[in-house]
Amino acid sequence: MEIPDTLIPITEIHLDGNIRLYIKREDLIHPEISGNKYWKLFYNINHYLQQRPKKPLIITFGGAFSNHIASVSALGKGLGIQTLGIIRGDELQQKWQENPTLQFAHEKGMDFRFVTREEYRDKETLNWTLENEFPDALIIPEGGTNTLAVKGIQHMLNNETKSFDYLCTAVGTGGTVAGISKFAERNQQVLGFKVVDDESLRQKVFELSGRRNSVLIEAHDGSYGKITDENVRFINSFSEKYSVQLDPVYTGKMMKRIFELIETEYFPEGSSILAFHTGGLQGIEGANQMLQKQNRAFINQIRS
Ligand SMILES: Cc1ncc(COP(=O)(O)O)c(C=O)c1O
Repeated sequence: MEIPDTLIPITEIHLDGNIRLYIKREDLIHPEISGNKYWKLFYNINHYLQQRPKKPLIITFGGAFSNHIASVSALGKGLGIQTLGIIRGDELQQKWQENPTLQFAHEKGMDFRFVTREEYRDKETLNWTLENEFPDALIIPEGGTNTLAVKGIQHMLNNETKSFDYLCTAVGTGGTVAGISKFAERNQQVLGFKVVDDESLRQKVFELSGRRNSVLIEAHDGSYGKITDENVRFINSFSEKYSVQLDPVYTGKMMKRIFELIETEYFPEGSSILAFHTGGLQGIEGANQMLQKQNRAFINQIRS
């Protein structure tokens, strides 16, 4: 993988009052491997390919709507490397064709192995089995989070990002916020918006970043992947007003919480906030499919 020469724009989200909010459009870095996914995979893949595996294979894990699964499949296709997705939920074996994310990954040449939720949770056994079966494969953990992923996140920070008081990102498996924390300036406060109810994240972020400069804030609406009508309304009004598309699982929840924090005067007067747009837009189609089945308002998609 190469460092793209795309210039990632930082644009202002104009608000009333004297808090300045900006968004860094990491979602524009690559059409199919967008946002933090590109950087979490960057050193993992390059390190693996430097070892010149005879028959390269990338194995990774994810749920049916996983942005990470979609990204790895596209990356494999782009590099001409076979990919295997270990997918949570054996019931999907019969109906994966109905799922837009898995359909996309299949089109990119990814093979699937569907496992029960119980098997999926037992990562140790699963890894051990895969390592034995595919000794030359690169096995990337769920969400792509590991020390090399954290190293890759440094590329989301640059001279421009140094001037902001707050750096914000959505948090799933913790690699992105750990990377931002690790490479942030000493005077910057990092805010991670947890879209998953996972108590172990605080410790994990500390272990990965070696720093305690981040605060994790709940943004999950009850559980991972839960999409409330309020969340949909927020995403639609945000895109109408600011012409930026957010996704319902990560960036929409983060931005909604940021707005709430501004409203409740969490940020001191005059603060400047930078929120990273980490992508995830491929998940909108699947989310809308579900919302339509439930006869609920769906997410308007804009081009930006
Ligand atoms: C769009 C989006 N934003 C944020 C995250 C959170 O990243 P992490 O799992 O590193 O916490 C993810 C997961 O990779 C994601 O897909």
